[in-house]
Amino acid sequence: MPPVQPPRTYRVKSFGCQMNVYDGERMAELLAQQGIAPAAEGEAADLVVLNTCHIREKAAEKVYSDIGRLVKDGRRADGSAPMIAVAGCVAQAEGEEIMARAPAVSMVVGPQAYHRLPSMIAEAAEGRRSVDTDMPAETKFDTLPARRKVGPSAFLTVQEGCDKFCTYCVVPYTRGAEISRRFSDLVDEAKKLVDAGAREITLLGQNVNAWRDADGRGLEKLVEELAAIDALARIRYTTSHPNDMTDGLIAAHRDIEKLMPFLHLPVQAGNDRVLRAMNRSHTVDSYLRILDRVRAARPDIALSGDFIVGFPGETNAEFDDTIRLVEQVGYAQCFSFKYSPRPGTPAATMADQIVPEVMDERLQRLQAALNAGQLAFNQASVGKRCQVLVERHGKHAGQWLGKSPWLQSVHFSGDAAIGDLVEVELIEAGANSLAGRLLGGSPRPDRSDRGMAAVQ
Ligand code: SAH
Ligand code: SF4
Ligand code: F3S
Repeated sequence: MPPVQPPRTYRVKSFGCQMNVYDGERMAELLAQQGIAPAAEGEAADLVVLNTCHIREKAAEKVYSDIGRLVKDGRRADGSAPMIAVAGCVAQAEGEEIMARAPAVSMVVGPQAYHRLPSMIAEAAEGRRSVDTDMPAETKFDTLPARRKVGPSAFLTVQEGCDKFCTYCVVPYTRGAEISRRFSDLVDEAKKLVDAGAREITLLGQNVNAWRDADGRGLEKLVEELAAIDALARIRYTTSHPNDMTDGLIAAHRDIEKLMPFLHLPVQAGNDRVLRAMNRSHTVDSYLRILDRVRAARPDIALSGDFIVGFPGETNAEFDDTIRLVEQVGYAQCFSFKYSPRPGTPAATMADQIVPEVMDERLQRLQAALNAGQLAFNQASVGKRCQVLVERHGKHAGQWLGKSPWLQSVHFSGDAAIGDLVEVELIEAGANSLAGRLLGGSPRPDRSDRGMAAVQ
């Protein structure tokens, strides 16, 4: 590649899970620290970071079409193509292959190595292409700059990687082994997020409830410590694995008021033979017993999960078991996917891969059952009074959008501002959101210019 002007502006595009969103924010901060500015809305950037996801085939293929589009339509002011960095899980999984397949890419950087971006950018400016998919001993977290201004709801990655090796999943290969960040670092970062405007923090991890510190303290201890931060109103965590759902964490849902009544606990399928073939290491029954314990600790908890339809060998009767489980649990909201064979995973070479038409039909049936459950959950909330954290403006003038404690989207009108925690009565339910009536509120701490935002 010929040498080019070092980039003056950047754009980071993140795909996939919330941990990628967190990583994308951190990369943006790192680039800003290097004196590179975010590109203005609608303007071509000198450097584009595609922070990719490899979880399903479509997600991975998208990267190549995005690169093609950038070369064609993303020209810099001087007519040259932007510098392109591929980061995230496709970078980790395909490394050199991306370099071979996409000559327009200057650098490929895996999810554990992106703190090395600045030196890779310098090399790219000199015309050298580079790949870094190491999982270095020094962690990226130790070398990243401080947080800038954040919205009312912020992410904090506490744990990364996965040792579970479900037979369909790429994450153990793209993110590496489970690591837990240090307790004190997390408390410090949480305080900085709160100082920067966060009123809610969602603790993130591929198996967030597997987080342990060096003294063996579990996630509930971290939640307890964060709950002591005055201006922090809400704590959430995601994604959890059933096998790491400890008594301590379940009790935290009873004891710690700031821990929101919501649990994302993927089950993937409702049949034990399929779960065994997936290497999930829990059964339908052991999963249901965990939910019983969680509900005993926090009766109003909203439950969520992930499902895969059409895992190799799944029969119609086995799929029916999944529908039965969905109807039995009464989930508040869920994600559901068609099984996608991922190269290098054991399931990709299993016999009896399911044909697309069957997959489509199962996904439709599952989603109909999940939507019905979600609507029923929302309808059961009508009449409740709850706090809503205001996150943004709604579609109409004077309208606000925020989240209930149960992670439902709620819209309402009245005197409020982004970052306020307001008291709302839920008055109408749809499948995807609820309408609320504003009762009163507590303005965010830095809005001392106003008293209570109480209006009827
Ligand atoms: N660690 C989390 C989820 C990580 S991936 C857990 O174990 O629950 C997010 C979701 O993507 C998974 O829960 C699963 O439902 C889905 N998924 C992962 N691999 C997939 C594949 N090969 N095909 C389809 N869906 C997949
Ligand atoms: Fe993937 Fe299973 Fe690990 Fe979740 S627990 S990240 S689905 S391997
Ligand atoms: Fe995708 Fe990687 Fe997350 S594969 S779901 S971005 S861990």
